[in-house]
Amino acid sequence: MKLLVATSNPGKLEEFRRILEPLGISVVPPHKKLKVEETGSSFLENAYIKAKAYWEEFGIPSVADDSGLIVDAIAPYPGVYSSRFHELELFGKEEGKSPDEANIKKLLRVLRGKRERGARFVAFVVLYANGKGLWAEGEVRGRIAESPRGSGGFGYDPVFIPEGETRTMAELSPEEKDRISHRGKALRALARILERCEEAF
Ligand code: IMP
Repeated sequence: MKLLVATSNPGKLEEFRRILEPLGISVVPPHKKLKVEETGSSFLENAYIKAKAYWEEFGIPSVADDSGLIVDAIAPYPGVYSSRFHELELFGKEEGKSPDEANIKKLLRVLRGKRERGARFVAFVVLYANGKGLWAEGEVRGRIAESPRGSGGFGYDPVFIPEGETRTMAELSPEEKDRISHRGKALRALARILERCEEAF
């Protein structure tokens, strides 16, 4: 089966490929960028909006993810604002060389001196085609490091220490991240659901 990955984030595309191809699902990137307004108020709704928009534009069964970090001390933030947390007026805006760097700077500032550093990454994935949608979710718990470490992954990976680990997500190998990550869990769950109802797609 071939699925279109409804994202223009190269970090996510790479992860979709790594996780789904060993399960016999080939993934293709969109041949042009599609601007989709994420107007939903939840991860699930935003993933649904993206998967449906890509299916309508390209006519290929499309899989989208909407994901983010929820930090216990300021839950549900950054949440659905994870990618643009630095721009949010709440807790003060922040600047950096890249949006990822500015987001991390802001998060570390907000948590400075706080002992409660628990957090979780969540991912909702939706597969959409022909007026039908399937969805699954995944989560990984951990805590926010005092300072960034590692060069792997993307986004908040350099400051997220998964439960049972001393390394940050950015210090894990790609395979180690996929085994425990929110996206790995969500996509493997989606693949299991798809096995049972592939004929509908
Ligand atoms: P989305 O593209 O709207 O789903 O934004 C998700 C945002 O959440 C990303 O830009 C990252 O900031 C953050 N995020 C989601 N998944 C991960 C991950 O696996 N590692 C690090 N950050 C992530």
